[in-house]
Amino acid sequence: MLAAAGLDVRVNSRPTAVEPDRLARQAACHDAVICLATDRIDGAVIDAARARCRIFANCAVGYDNIDVGAARRAGIVVTHTPDVLTETTADLTWALILAAARRLGQAERVVRAGAWRGWSMLDFLGTDVGGGTIGVVGAGRIGTAVLRRARGFSMRMLYTSRRDAEAADALGARRVPLNDLLANSDVVTLHVPLGESTRHMIDAGALQRMKNSAILVNTARGAVIDEAALIAALREGRIAAAGLDVYESEPRVAPELLRMENVVLLPHIGSATTATRQAMANCAARNVIAVLRGQPPLTPIDEQ
Ligand code: GLV
Repeated sequence: MLAAAGLDVRVNSRPTAVEPDRLARQAACHDAVICLATDRIDGAVIDAARARCRIFANCAVGYDNIDVGAARRAGIVVTHTPDVLTETTADLTWALILAAARRLGQAERVVRAGAWRGWSMLDFLGTDVGGGTIGVVGAGRIGTAVLRRARGFSMRMLYTSRRDAEAADALGARRVPLNDLLANSDVVTLHVPLGESTRHMIDAGALQRMKNSAILVNTARGAVIDEAALIAALREGRIAAAGLDVYESEPRVAPELLRMENVVLLPHIGSATTATRQAMANCAARNVIAVLRGQPPLTPIDEQ
């Protein structure tokens, strides 16, 4: 798409994030940068880019990797890829909810190890999700799509939101303060962006408010949870299980989590289907083409 629009494209074909120095050097000599959630676009990169670069098009819906304020001050547009990954990420959230509730990781490990002894009345007893209460922290696009799926499981639905969430209300979900949601939900699932107000939003105190039988799922950003507090809560049985797609210091996963049977661990694959990754790439490319043609970006970051 970019080449068809007449743009010269240079691609980082290595599978790892570009080092900050190299990123700054490259940003300084390009008109646009398409970046990933793993690329840190900080003040230094933006300073280097300001003379030439007109847009950072993040190929992700989250944009905590970008200093949006610095970009705004430098006059550089920042865009992201909302909507195209909503349903895919909601599906993955439900995969984690069910996997954690029904102990799928642990059960599969037993089969793969050749250690399955045959059907047993008492092995791998999990928790029923249907008929319970789901608490969605952040009823934006993805949180609402998670709620829509929860209706199929006949769940009572609670949510938190900074602003009115009519779509969630229309599904029959009830907006409540975070503490009420934590105290009353059987499944708590996180769908807030990472920012100063949400960093460690789920800390030791929040975990303490949850039911001992509750399941915590995170497909948002790792640092929304205080990971050390989560490890302690799981170890001490203060919550029953967790399903995590994201971590505080990716790609590092705390060794304690790796050893726990009651945690399902995925490698940040919320949006990872072929069709959705293609749609994300197209969205980022369209933003670049629009901005370089002097047109408004399609999906700018609201905060700008
Ligand atoms: C992935 O984590 C995204 O924000 O799209």
